Amino acid sequence: MSTFVMTGGTSGFGAIAAKRLTQWDDARLFLGARRPSPLGESIPLDLANLDSVRAFARSVRERLADAPIDALLLNAGVILSDITGRTVDGFETTFAVNHLAHHLLLRLLLPALADEAIVVLTTSGTHDPATRAALLPPRHADAELLAHPERDLHRDTRPRKAAEHAYTASKLCAVLTARALSEYADVKGRHLTVVAYCPGQVFGTGLAKDLPRPMRTAWSLLGTPLGWPLRRLNRNLNSRTAAGNVLADLALGAAAPPNGRTYAALRRGCLTWPDPSELARSDDLARALWDDSGRLVGLPN
Ligand SMILES: NC(=O)c1ccc[n+]([C@@H]2O[C@H](COP(=O)([O-])OP(=O)(O)OC[C@H]3O[C@@H](n4cnc5c(N)ncnc54)[C@H](OP(=O)(O)O)[C@@H]3O)[C@@H](O)[C@H]2O)c1
Repeated sequence: MSTFVMTGGTSGFGAIAAKRLTQWDDARLFLGARRPSPLGESIPLDLANLDSVRAFARSVRERLADAPIDALLLNAGVILSDITGRTVDGFETTFAVNHLAHHLLLRLLLPALADEAIVVLTTSGTHDPATRAALLPPRHADAELLAHPERDLHRDTRPRKAAEHAYTASKLCAVLTARALSEYADVKGRHLTVVAYCPGQVFGTGLAKDLPRPMRTAWSLLGTPLGWPLRRLNRNLNSRTAAGNVLADLALGAAAPPNGRTYAALRRGCLTWPDPSELARSDDLARALWDDSGRLVGLPN
């Protein structure tokens, strides 16, 4: 029996990965979701509410009894059009959903992971200024300032730019979390595999649903065959099928990192293992983010 736990499996390329996982021999998939899904066993989860994350983790562990988790996929994410929203816990919504909630879930489920289990965190190449993505790249990974951006004296005050920063910074946090996690003695001792996975740019998913209408429309249209010719011009563009299948391959161990690598990027349908951004290569930053995130979600260091 293989047991998978996943967020973000109800839509986009995550739904394609979730379907693949349910087709795996003797698989059990626990899907944390805001709405019921026909795939696997849906358990209510709203990442914008840390009590919901705790209840989800409790429910998974009860249903598991003593069975271990073979792969944990932290794939859910949002991009918003401003940073005015706060979760019930009082944190900026993009950062809370994309990073803090996943940090808490990871920490709560870590003891239930099997030896040699696989953890995949979905990130984005937009975390790296060198990719020259259209979104404002992150200036820092200070958890306190990202949770409370009104305290960031150097923030971009244009709503859309501030929202882009919240998104790209949350994705930098995913890469740093993978780095911090992979360095823990317990994780090394249990031979866990940890990967921060960038699917490239994948049009036609639900990711643009909170953006203004013209962007939403372009995002949907480019996800149809109309957008396919673009893939020949831009190596970052991938289909939903390719991005979902590679996410499943990583969770199944069918695609494994070369020694010492934790950042994977899908480029023109091929999995590559490049260096992440300069900020994402800092062990000090990774440890500080881990400790500060734990404190913000109420965990002891
Ligand atoms: N598409 C791209 O170009 C691209 C590029 C780089 C990285 N990514 C990342 O890839 C991941 C999947 O994105 P996608 O493009 O496939 O977008 P998507 O179709 O919008 O999928 C996002 C998933 O996250 C879930 N989610 C969002 N907010 C949630 C919350 N508060 N609680 C629980 N679940 C929540 C959604 O659930 P609902 O069905 O309930 O909305 C959905 O299953 C995200 O982390 C995204 O940042 C995407």
